[in-house]
Amino acid sequence: MHMRKKKWARPELQACPFFTEDGEKWKNRWRERFPHPERPLHLEMGCGKGVSTALMAADTPEINYVVCDLSADVLGDARRNLVRACGGDVSHVQILLTDICFIDRVFGPEDRAERIYIHFCNPWTEKPKQAKRRLTHPRQLLQYRRFLTERGEIWFKTDDDTLFQDSRVYLDLCGFETVYLTEDLHQSGFAPNYISEHERKYMDLGVPIRFGIFRMKPEAPDFDPTRYRLTPGVRKAALERLNAEWKMNNQGQ
Ligand SMILES: C[S@@+](CC[C@H](N)C(=O)[O-])C[C@H]1O[C@@H](n2cnc3c(N)ncnc32)[C@H](O)[C@@H]1O
Repeated sequence: MHMRKKKWARPELQACPFFTEDGEKWKNRWRERFPHPERPLHLEMGCGKGVSTALMAADTPEINYVVCDLSADVLGDARRNLVRACGGDVSHVQILLTDICFIDRVFGPEDRAERIYIHFCNPWTEKPKQAKRRLTHPRQLLQYRRFLTERGEIWFKTDDDTLFQDSRVYLDLCGFETVYLTEDLHQSGFAPNYISEHERKYMDLGVPIRFGIFRMKPEAPDFDPTRYRLTPGVRKAALERLNAEWKMNNQGQ
């Protein structure tokens, strides 16, 4: 669906003290942009209109957030939603206009992010060669490893089962272990869960939401992700192993 251009979005963002599109200038210095640089730093990749971001930021003012998207139009809405939800005090949030495909130009090891949220990223399931554009593809995950803290986490939600299962394999391959997994988030009792714009849409259609928390292991995998393609055989074997491991570690729960 093509979104109508919002003429007000850019001027509002440009006048906003917690917006930037100069991400590269802040590489390794993001914490300086917050009144409390020592607090945990969480990033959101592809925040869209920031519907869940605003609820989460209002609920957790003790966390610093950088929320990213490549569309100024949706970030305009995100800014408005944040101001509304946080009652005007948005000093713990930074909005960043950037292309996440090149995210390691913008964040570095000194930024020490504790957590990354990826919610309902585009699934790119139509053609195998499009998979490299996924925000959970190994090309991305190996970039995220460079600025996550030791044992930093990725929190990932989607309605798309193919994307979810492929991503579990990518995450395993890139040295992330599963610490939480559900194939139906809203039946799982997991809390708190902040419902995003896309999540609401799929909930209303009765589609179960897949959700996982994946923690970075210290050992960095040694492979070139640029040309990586998941083959059906590798996928099947990896998922069988991951499902067996998950079942074994969570027996009785
Ligand atoms: C399907 S929407 C999901 C929005 C929101 N997270 C939600 O759950 O409602 C995906 C968002 O990711 C953004 N996006 C996709 N690829 C991106 C990229 N390479 N860099 C930055 N943002 C991207 C899109 O602009 C869009 O806002």
